Amino acid sequence: MTAPREKSDALVFFGATGDLAFKKIFPALHAMARRGVLDVPVVGVARSGWDLARFVEHARSSIEQHGEPDDAAFDALAARLRYVDGDYNDPATFSRLKAELGDVERPAHYLAIPPSMFAVVVKNLAEAGSLQHAKIIVEKPFGRDLASAQALNETLHAFVSESQVFRIDHYLGKEAVQNLLYFRFANALLEPLWNRQYVENIQITMAESFGVNGRGKFYQETGVIRDVIQNHLFQVLSLLAMEAPSSIDADAIHSEQAKVLRKVRPLSATDVVRGQYRGYREEPDVALDSKVPTYAALRLHIDSWRWDGVPFFVRAGKALARTCTEVLVELKPAPAVVFPSAAPAMGNYVRFRLGPEVAIAVGALIKKPGDDLVGKPIELSVVRQDTADDMDAYERLLSDAMRGDATLFARQDSVEAAWTIVDPLIAVPREAPLEYEPGSWGPVKANRLVADIGGWNTPKS
Ligand code: BG6
Repeated sequence: MTAPREKSDALVFFGATGDLAFKKIFPALHAMARRGVLDVPVVGVARSGWDLARFVEHARSSIEQHGEPDDAAFDALAARLRYVDGDYNDPATFSRLKAELGDVERPAHYLAIPPSMFAVVVKNLAEAGSLQHAKIIVEKPFGRDLASAQALNETLHAFVSESQVFRIDHYLGKEAVQNLLYFRFANALLEPLWNRQYVENIQITMAESFGVNGRGKFYQETGVIRDVIQNHLFQVLSLLAMEAPSSIDADAIHSEQAKVLRKVRPLSATDVVRGQYRGYREEPDVALDSKVPTYAALRLHIDSWRWDGVPFFVRAGKALARTCTEVLVELKPAPAVVFPSAAPAMGNYVRFRLGPEVAIAVGALIKKPGDDLVGKPIELSVVRQDTADDMDAYERLLSDAMRGDATLFARQDSVEAAWTIVDPLIAVPREAPLEYEPGSWGPVKANRLVADIGGWNTPKS
């Protein structure tokens, strides 16, 4: 049916006049054009009543607002752009698309549209004869819960095979996230420590200092757990906790990720604290009595030989004190035998700053200069300065999908394992989340989750 590893000879993106296209897809395509690797037609599909000229102008303002304008690159991109206007429910739209594609044989169809539209688009693509040898790239969130993710998967599989499906989680396209895998398994230094004997706990924090930024409608339907925990942060968790893959083959990596997520113990109510920032209910399109959490903190356990007894903490929130994503792996203290009073809380740790800056740091104790053998904490850190030439996550992911490399895409079993973990939190009727002050670190009651480990890691600026 398909040759997914063969390079796509066109990119079609649905939702071409939407928000995601404006903020991320055009800038990614423009960056590809600047690198000289955009060598196929790019067809936008939407129902906006536009023509090609208007579409190209729209692309230009996207690059001006969200990209790094470069006239030559923009001209190269504009020369590739095509536009098909029409309703996704109307088969005529798909006939026009087919005509526009001409002799293209292996298109990549990117569904940057609400998941409720996936089925109809895929069915119409199939009926128009545009799916053979095609790839289907779908945006997160993949489903709203386990049942809907499984149903969506079935819908897609009615028309395409798993090897044709590329589920985007843009966190996987980030250089710093890929580096978790690389740093763990390219070095001998971590592996002996990376287990229950030496690791005290692991914390993953994704903090954003801004609110929902006009995305109230979207957020009302998602909330923080569906928006970033089930996908982005569980991907990070699985890269931190998985066993070594047998190779860098996409399937080998995905299998280890799925395996570790399946080992996460079912959550109980006491493992979770939900919050909502004060002012969220006054955001446009948000209900005045909304119970949607904009913050959540989870305490997780992985019932595996490696991690038994090591608590993992995942927390994420909007309108927090600063924007940053950080992992802190706290190591157990050295025996208090030689320097019994020297060790402060948290002397040894490994810290990965995943964004906006990229850094790896090791926390250690050294002797304080002076007469006494007293220690002080220091950090050996490497902050990456050379990030200017890094590919943006969307540029990398689109390029990879078009090449047929599935490594940085979520496989269905991981997606399902991740929904299985959070389903109990999102399915039952919820109490109102705890209110927290914008600019704080979330509800104070979240501290109870970490009472026995000495508190949260507060990422520094
Ligand atoms: C998106 C979420 O997937 O990720 C947003 O929908 C969130 O709510 C964003 O702000 C964060 O991604 P990044 O790459 O800006 O850290």
